[in-house]
Amino acid sequence: MAGHKALRGQLLYFVDDPASAGEDAWVHHADGIIWIENGLIKLADDAERVLPQLPGGTEIEIYQHHLLVPGFIDTHIHYPQTEMIAAYGERLLEWLETYTFPVESKFDDPGYAGEIATVFLDELLRNGTTTALVFGTVHPESVDAFFNEAQRRNLRMIAGKVMMDRNAPDYIRDEAEQSYRDSKALIQRWHGVDRLQYAVTPRFAPTSSDRQLELAGRLLREHPGVYLHTHLAENPEECAWVAELFPQAKHYLDVYDQAGLLTRRSVFAHGIHLCDDSCKRLSDSGSAIAHCPTSNLFLGSGLFELDRLTEQGVNIGIGTDVGGGTSFSMLQTLADAYKIQQLRGRKLDPLRALYLATLGGARALDLEDKIGSFRSGCEADLIALDLHATPLLKFRTDRCSSLFETLFVLNTLGDDRAIAQTWILGEVVHRRGMA
Ligand code: GUN
Ligand code: ZN
Repeated sequence: MAGHKALRGQLLYFVDDPASAGEDAWVHHADGIIWIENGLIKLADDAERVLPQLPGGTEIEIYQHHLLVPGFIDTHIHYPQTEMIAAYGERLLEWLETYTFPVESKFDDPGYAGEIATVFLDELLRNGTTTALVFGTVHPESVDAFFNEAQRRNLRMIAGKVMMDRNAPDYIRDEAEQSYRDSKALIQRWHGVDRLQYAVTPRFAPTSSDRQLELAGRLLREHPGVYLHTHLAENPEECAWVAELFPQAKHYLDVYDQAGLLTRRSVFAHGIHLCDDSCKRLSDSGSAIAHCPTSNLFLGSGLFELDRLTEQGVNIGIGTDVGGGTSFSMLQTLADAYKIQQLRGRKLDPLRALYLATLGGARALDLEDKIGSFRSGCEADLIALDLHATPLLKFRTDRCSSLFETLFVLNTLGDDRAIAQTWILGEVVHRRGMA
């Protein structure tokens, strides 16, 4: 029947955080159906309950040895850094100077930016990521190119132009007033167009003057609903530098707070080295931290205190942070999140991990009413995870005796090969093995 579609198989999605709601946090149907109407979830439930309600003639696609889950949500990633992923030998500040700034300088060319945006979005969908919060470069052209490509594919994406007016080479710096005007023009052009939203994006405190941060705050006040996206307390040398540059601030987060940058739609990447007062301000303001495990290990930045921030009530999502991060795969990213907690003598269970990569990300982005679950009315962005994707995955998952164990094996061994299909608004946009 036109506009209707049904997918039958094992379904799993979250309605709350397992850290607070325990087993009530997720919904699992061993034999379920997702009924999609005009790109939205009409109903997701046990097959026997949905079958009698389906309009006659609705085609039912069957997924055996798969798990149907909401698309992954990547709460921190840099599309211009796709071509420098896996750059050798440096920690954050030297890595930025040596690799990042030279690569980002190429994005004043709209043609080039468009080519990289295409590769980047193909890679996200191949990895089952259907929404991301994305850094552009300092050039407004980089954001136009990204949004054009995301719009063509009907994706729900959030992105912004980097604001950076000091402590960076001239060839990649802007100027405070100009960055305000450029960001404002981009907000007017893109925010709320189709499924696209804008994030005001000062790179991090060291590369913005007080004036630029103040103007970033003004943009947020002038355009309610727009996001704030930046980095926070990632690396010890960076934190010491911020203390030197902003002697009047109580701590790193306070630099952003004084500029009015803490809102329900603010997302701070990393947040590894935070005092209790910072956690409290994050929690009180409803701002979120994007935890980026592969990046934190690769750049030697530190071990994220997931339990502490959770206990303090901070919203947390997961970010790949490509190109500081080393994988587009949310499964690989969750595998590293687990290992970071092991190094701290803590556990990250696989249900909480999947929550963080789906509904947790949607909450971090204040988009819980639209994405991240299979609740009726949500947008039908979803994936089929193939438990038999590789010989080893088949061998190992065939021996699992619980959902918990199956999920953990998938988190640990899975990568892009485990993403059999990706749907955007109910349409297939990636099928493994097809170009
Ligand atoms: N801090 C400032 N800029 C960056 C960046 O591009 N990547 C990461 N990981 N941290 C940053
Ligand atoms: Zn980053």
